[in-house]
Amino acid sequence: MSTDAVSAVINVDIEGPKISKHVYGHFAEHLGRCIYGGFYVGEDSDIPNVRGIRLDVVEALRALDIPNLRWPGGCFADEYHWMDGIGPKEDRAVMVNTHWGGVEENNHFGTHEFMDLCELLETEPYISGNVGSGTVREMSEWVEYITREGDSPMARLRKQNGREEPWKVKFWGLGNETWGCGGNMTAEQYAMDARKYATYCRNYGDNKLYRIAAGAADADYGWTETLMKQLSHLGCQRVERPLYQALSIHYYTIAGDWNDKGAATVFTDDEYYTTMLKANRTDELLTGHANVMDLYDPKKEIGIVMDEWGTWWNVEPGTNPGFLYQQNTMRDALVASLHFDIFHKHADRLIMANIAQTVNVLQAMILTDPDSGALVLTPTYHVFQMNKGHQDAASLRVDTPAGVPTREVDGKELATVSVSASRKDGRLLVSLSNLDAGAAQDVEIDLRGGGLGDLESLILTADTLQSHNTPEQLEAVAPQKHDGVTLDGSKLRVHLPAHSFVTVAGALA
Ligand code: AHR
Repeated sequence: MSTDAVSAVINVDIEGPKISKHVYGHFAEHLGRCIYGGFYVGEDSDIPNVRGIRLDVVEALRALDIPNLRWPGGCFADEYHWMDGIGPKEDRAVMVNTHWGGVEENNHFGTHEFMDLCELLETEPYISGNVGSGTVREMSEWVEYITREGDSPMARLRKQNGREEPWKVKFWGLGNETWGCGGNMTAEQYAMDARKYATYCRNYGDNKLYRIAAGAADADYGWTETLMKQLSHLGCQRVERPLYQALSIHYYTIAGDWNDKGAATVFTDDEYYTTMLKANRTDELLTGHANVMDLYDPKKEIGIVMDEWGTWWNVEPGTNPGFLYQQNTMRDALVASLHFDIFHKHADRLIMANIAQTVNVLQAMILTDPDSGALVLTPTYHVFQMNKGHQDAASLRVDTPAGVPTREVDGKELATVSVSASRKDGRLLVSLSNLDAGAAQDVEIDLRGGGLGDLESLILTADTLQSHNTPEQLEAVAPQKHDGVTLDGSKLRVHLPAHSFVTVAGALA
């Protein structure tokens, strides 16, 4: 081994916790052009659609094996009254989307349309209920409407609206950011509400809900502690335990501050490194929240759901500030690949993560041109695609006994090489990111406990970190076959050009 390579060890026969496929989850809010113009164009559109849902978007997301989709928000969820979004479209109530641009919401995309979308995507719905401005009854009836079979008031209403059979819904959110846009509550206040709402979100037939309490922002460990404490203080012996099954966490990566988050496509190397340092904070946050949870739940029965993560830049010039439309570069791709390495490492507690958001909002997979309707796959999309083999795979520990190169960024150390690995169905998948903006790096992995054959490797990189895809240039950043991989006995050597993401897959023997 030459001295310049990072030396790593993977014991391919020692399986760690399973990486839940749901950490590759998505999020679609009634925000800007995510739903309208993104997923949903209406049946009269020239853009090919099924019942108003864009076919090209469905096809692109199915190629990612999208495991779940969170809806209808975000902040919108706590203003959303689901009964406004059922029945004949022309009769549906119009509301103002006060959080996002103050535009009118005609409710043409409601429960039936969302469940239709999930069926087309073959993905699991994750519904985020309204705690902030809704009622316990309203949420309880929504669960009944969607999941109850047989005869009941809400089941009858659903049938009247054209859906005979109930749908299956597992993931159910009890509000969103209840410390902020979801009601500005204190942790104590929300902990009481979460118990109440969870109680009345019933399991009907064999539909078993996985209730997700609205958790902390960033490093608010006190919020997590309050929810965990309240969860264990239940008087009645007859109630289902635990009352809710997971806590959420939100954390966004920005280069600047909330007043000036930085531009998506124009940034210096320094801003790039700051971005990566901030993205890396996700590891610290997951560790911190998990440590608190361990005190109350050492068996790890309560999951963490990081149901909002990703980059948040200043909106593209000339676009509605309330629509959160941003471009997506090679930098965003590396933020995503780094997050996945972190998520894989936390597979014991992290059961879901949802990037914000799927189409046309924040760190999107897909951008659609408002004029031509053209569809652009972003660099982030390609990371999801290259990594999809990790879904539901057994995590494998990656040891780097001599460490990895680091760089001082804003007074802290940033590791510039990140690696994670998993095995599933007799195949190994290794993901490697070189975060260095300008220098290549080799990694030599000693594979112990099994041989490897039938190697396949892909690389995602670009001329610059600012490179991005547009309708005119759809493949400025797109995966290519990577020939910088060699296998010599048990030694897998991988060349990582500057700012690159590489996957290596192979059959285990
Ligand atoms: O994803 C955009 C917004 O960010 C969501 O609506 C909210 O939950 C968060 O603050």
